[in-house]
Amino acid sequence: MTLEVVIRDVKFPNPVLAASGTFGFGWEFLAVANRLGGVVTKGLTIAPRAGNPPPRIVETASGVVNSVGLENPGVEVFKREILPRLQRVKCPVIVNLAAGKEEEFCELTETLEQTPVAGLELNLSCPNVKEGGVVFGQDALQVEKITRAVRKRTGKLLIVKLTANFVDPADTAKAAEAAGADAVSLINTLFALVLDQEGKPLLGGRTGGLSGPAIKPFALFCVERVARAVKIPVIGMGGIKTGQDAFEFICAGAHLIQVGTANLVKPDGALEVVKELRRMARTRGWQSWDDIRGKAGEGRFS
Ligand SMILES: Cc1cc2nc3c(=O)[nH]c(=O)nc-3n(C[C@H](O)[C@H](O)[C@H](O)COP(=O)(O)O)c2cc1C
Repeated sequence: MTLEVVIRDVKFPNPVLAASGTFGFGWEFLAVANRLGGVVTKGLTIAPRAGNPPPRIVETASGVVNSVGLENPGVEVFKREILPRLQRVKCPVIVNLAAGKEEEFCELTETLEQTPVAGLELNLSCPNVKEGGVVFGQDALQVEKITRAVRKRTGKLLIVKLTANFVDPADTAKAAEAAGADAVSLINTLFALVLDQEGKPLLGGRTGGLSGPAIKPFALFCVERVARAVKIPVIGMGGIKTGQDAFEFICAGAHLIQVGTANLVKPDGALEVVKELRRMARTRGWQSWDDIRGKAGEGRFS
């Protein structure tokens, strides 16, 4: 069967994308990127950001906690220096946007509208500086407002990346859908605190975000919940490192999946997932993704 997945006018050669923040901007791993379904760039802000002080990442039981703090060169350098390099990436490139104000999300969107990137992923796990630092994605009204404002400014594929921290992502997914998002992606990292032997925070940013296999069962739960709540495609992630993991997310209702932390272990981690999925499709005789998508079975949530 063809592994291709089409969302609106964007053709992903297979359903496996590299997740934001774990694969650079994509051009750094060209041999891998060109065999993936797509690449989501690291979070981009208007102004350059130096990120948080070190240490920025620490290993925990079956996962990592990071507090990178959105280190990136800013949108002007991105356009001038990184975009030309991205021309060599053959799969669709989605730019992950981060901002502390609605107007900044809008400005980033307008700045990128005439560029050849395939789509935008709004990282709504950022604190809203005008609302006392409450995370945009924890408030369905904010999600709707910001998605609507960005939607007005872009004809590109618009993905809204949801948080599952202290909010029901089914509610925020519905808000994103109502405001014109083409797809939602989830989950982002989960709030985390790691202390050292003296009881002091280990990360330079004090708290961080948990990712990797530790979050997979919760991520699957959230993806299934959201896939049942909205009609737009769902992009699932959280602890995926094997073809079996990806298969489970598709059974839970995902159209595409993203591989994050596994890329930090092996830069070709996402490629392993593609290869395994292709093998599974062949040996299990699937005719199309519809054979397995959402087939985890109906039933109530406990
Ligand atoms: C080091 C690191 C940096 C990340 N940076 C971003 C980012 O800039 N923007 C974003 O939306 N998500 C970011 N994420 C979250 C991932 O894209 C992904 O949602 C999360 O890690 C869950 O997937 P995983 O368990 O496969 O890593 C980052 C994750 C890690 C581990």
